[in-house]
Amino acid sequence: MTQFNDTELTAAVIKSFEQTPNSRARFLLQELVKSLHDYVRKTDLSFEEWDTAIGFLTRTGQKCTDIRQEFILLSDVLGVSMLVDAVNHRDRDGATETTVLGPFYVGEHKVTPHGSDISADLSGERMFVQSRVTDLGGKPLAGVPVDVWHADQDGFYDSQRPSYATDGPSSRARFVTDADGRFHFRTIVPCSYPIPTDGPVGQMIMQTNRHPMRPAHVHFLVNARGYEPLITHVFVEGDKYIDSDVVFGVKDELIARVEKRTDPVMPDGKPADGPWHLMTYEFHVKPGGGLAPAPLGTKATEDA
Ligand SMILES: [Fe+2]
Repeated sequence: MTQFNDTELTAAVIKSFEQTPNSRARFLLQELVKSLHDYVRKTDLSFEEWDTAIGFLTRTGQKCTDIRQEFILLSDVLGVSMLVDAVNHRDRDGATETTVLGPFYVGEHKVTPHGSDISADLSGERMFVQSRVTDLGGKPLAGVPVDVWHADQDGFYDSQRPSYATDGPSSRARFVTDADGRFHFRTIVPCSYPIPTDGPVGQMIMQTNRHPMRPAHVHFLVNARGYEPLITHVFVEGDKYIDSDVVFGVKDELIARVEKRTDPVMPDGKPADGPWHLMTYEFHVKPGGGLAPAPLGTKATEDA
């Protein structure tokens, strides 16, 4: 029997992964062991603290369901999601900036006609969104599926409501770009909202005196065949939390002015019932491939 000192222990665990057939998996596991062991050494982690961490991670897993992803939320609030985003998108070449997927991409994005009101049943200030998808040279891309989702007037996503199972999606849809790369739809102006605080991640945020708020935004997933899937948000300029997003997801280029309008007619020629808002944003995608993220509980697909 061998008794290791703590440095030898680290070396032994790293060595134990030597036979991992996949070299990338071997590298990731060995680096993980190094970082974890360094953390324990650096912090002189007590048994009680180790037990607290295990309990926290256990509760995080137990909170996950097909439509609730507490681990993504944990990754988001620790800045890991944005760091993964950053190391994978170092060179944008003029492509639209990316940001976190977030925990509310649950699928159920049905192809919806342009101009539809995706929040027809919700109260709130009305907003017309007009957008276009082009390549880096400005060439419009036709037939591109674009998934859209945002929170309601109370700051909740449809999937957080008990009614989701019976009523289906709201403020969530897929539009397919026309021959000129354009699409447009109606909805409500989204509001800032707290991440869920009824689980271990939200509780950790509150216990550490961080605020749980995300600035108002609309999520977009632009998935053009032959181009990198673009996962991003468009943020509403002027939001109170624009500089302190709890998941660190804001980038200047993704902030859009949402104009207040009183024109009696909206850009698609249909009458406005009253004052409305206009959000205009263009997406530029770069050539490449890769799978778009899978909605929770499903497998990734090129058409997701
Ligand atoms: Fe969101």
